[in-house]
Amino acid sequence: GRHALTDKHQRKHSYLRISLTERCNLRCTYCMPAAGLPLTPSESILTNTEIAHLSKLFVSQGVNKIRLTGGEPTLRPGLQELLQEMNELRADGLEKICMTSNGLALHRKLNGLVENGLTHLNLSLDTLDEEKFERITRRKGHSAVMKTLDTALSLLRPPSSTWQPGLQSVKINNVLTRSSNLDELVDFVRLTQAHPISVRFIEFMPFSGNKWDKNEMVPYDEALGVIRREFGAENVVPLTNEDGDGTSKRWRIKGWKGEIGFISSMSDHFCGTCNRLRITADGNLKVCLFDNTEVSLRDVMRTAPSFDQRQIDEQLMDVIGIAVGNKKAKHAGMDLLAGMQNRSMVMIGG
Ligand code: GTP
Ligand code: 5AD
Ligand code: SF4
Repeated sequence: GRHALTDKHQRKHSYLRISLTERCNLRCTYCMPAAGLPLTPSESILTNTEIAHLSKLFVSQGVNKIRLTGGEPTLRPGLQELLQEMNELRADGLEKICMTSNGLALHRKLNGLVENGLTHLNLSLDTLDEEKFERITRRKGHSAVMKTLDTALSLLRPPSSTWQPGLQSVKINNVLTRSSNLDELVDFVRLTQAHPISVRFIEFMPFSGNKWDKNEMVPYDEALGVIRREFGAENVVPLTNEDGDGTSKRWRIKGWKGEIGFISSMSDHFCGTCNRLRITADGNLKVCLFDNTEVSLRDVMRTAPSFDQRQIDEQLMDVIGIAVGNKKAKHAGMDLLAGMQNRSMVMIGG
């Protein structure tokens, strides 16, 4: 139906996050164990055709922003071709084609992805120190990520009314943990002086197997306090969210080119304005990051008794409409979430 993506709390879902793979080329300590995690067999992962089909269906229902995630999305074979297909959905109303990546294997690929439609890039980067990078990620590669950041900045283009290849925004995602990178907070803020980027500080969230520790989480008001003391409270200027869909609370250091943001999922959640839906790499619709009741869209597509595409789409929309309708008003709160059975972050895509 027409309102299939509106839930019973009147939230409209216009932002779809699609995980392209469960694989990752890093082993971040806050995300997974050193040995990695067992992977879903590849025949159970959505194909490009299935992803393109679901994307078109969701765009026809009002989705105007798609973010490709993982695992690490750049490890997905055929990523450029997939972007090409998504780019064609602009004619149907898709406006933003985004990706969240750790940037390790991206700097040579990035230009091709942007040429084929990528408009928004979020790079995960928790430290500016090479050795600390290896401690956090359990892999080498800090300089490769910094190269990706440079390349991304060189691809920034001002927005235009019709699509032109170019990045409209580059953001850095920094998961703050007290014992590992809180000491670099102000250095990350300084990146916004000369560069038109957004640096976002993220509260450490609990997922199965990530050894979440409340004492390691840095609440956003504490991080903001550090920044106000360092740069002078009068120089830390709040920005407003034009559209209410943002995950971050935004600020700018007066006169600086970029901005900073805080993603306060734990200390001050933003569920009331949630407009996000997720599809996991194995084809489950996940209506909330912290809701483990998932429903398989892959199975509907693969086992539908009918070969009539319209009937399959109707079945998909029935399943999607019910799941979205049942989405909870908000997550359970950090103390309960810490003990909950959920996928690990690498299996969700953030
Ligand atoms: P923008 O579209 O640029 O605002 O990015 P985003 O914040 O939507 O996505 P990104 O993949 O960069 O994720 C940044 C952080 O926000 C990650 O830690 C995500 O897990 C978290 N995040 C994204 N969406 C949600 C959400 O719906 N709920 C919660 N609690 N966290 C989210
Ligand atoms: N808490 C908060 N953010 C996390 N991310 C990964 N694990 C966690 C966690 N436990 C971030 C990554 C990436 C984004 C998709 O989610 O750094 O930028
Ligand atoms: Fe949306 Fe769930 Fe995240 Fe809340 S916790 S903002 S409802 S995805």
